[in-house]
Amino acid sequence: MEKSNVIVPRRDLTVGEVAARSGVAVSTLHFYEAKGLIGSTRSQGNQRRYPRSVLRRIAVIRIAQRTGIPLAEIRKTLSSLPDDRPLLASDWERLSASWNADLTDRIDRLTALRDQLTSCIGCGCLSMRDCPLRNPYDELSEKGSGAYLLEHPGEDIDEKGKKEKGKKKALAAD
Ligand code: FES
Repeated sequence: MEKSNVIVPRRDLTVGEVAARSGVAVSTLHFYEAKGLIGSTRSQGNQRRYPRSVLRRIAVIRIAQRTGIPLAEIRKTLSSLPDDRPLLASDWERLSASWNADLTDRIDRLTALRDQLTSCIGCGCLSMRDCPLRNPYDELSEKGSGAYLLEHPGEDIDEKGKKEKGKKKALAAD
């Protein structure tokens, strides 16, 4: 049999086809669309139709979500890209570069969280065994609310504060 040289134009995809190919539930696709992350056109029967390039866009969204980037940030970054063509490798380079600092910050916070899970997190409870060492007299309450040491990795109360609190305690004991 002779092969045809006719190139069949790739038709747009239905929502079910996009769901099957991307591994994303139809309801999630509708959600992405409502949030302005992806777009569709309508068929004559008023059904959603997506260009094949939406698959790459969805893959980028999923990867970004997996790394913890908020949807609003993803939408903002994607909106800087043209809608009329698929995402290119150069687009991905630009996207990943713009998310790099944020990712590094997240990694630092998660590392701090991992390292401090078994010790004082500066929440003000003073109940853990080493709290009096890291947060004597709830010194961190003066810096802010919440689990201060988790929210501000790398920071700790300063030595001057510790000494002044120590003096106050010594005077109170007299
Ligand atoms: S764990 Fe709560 S203040 Fe240290």
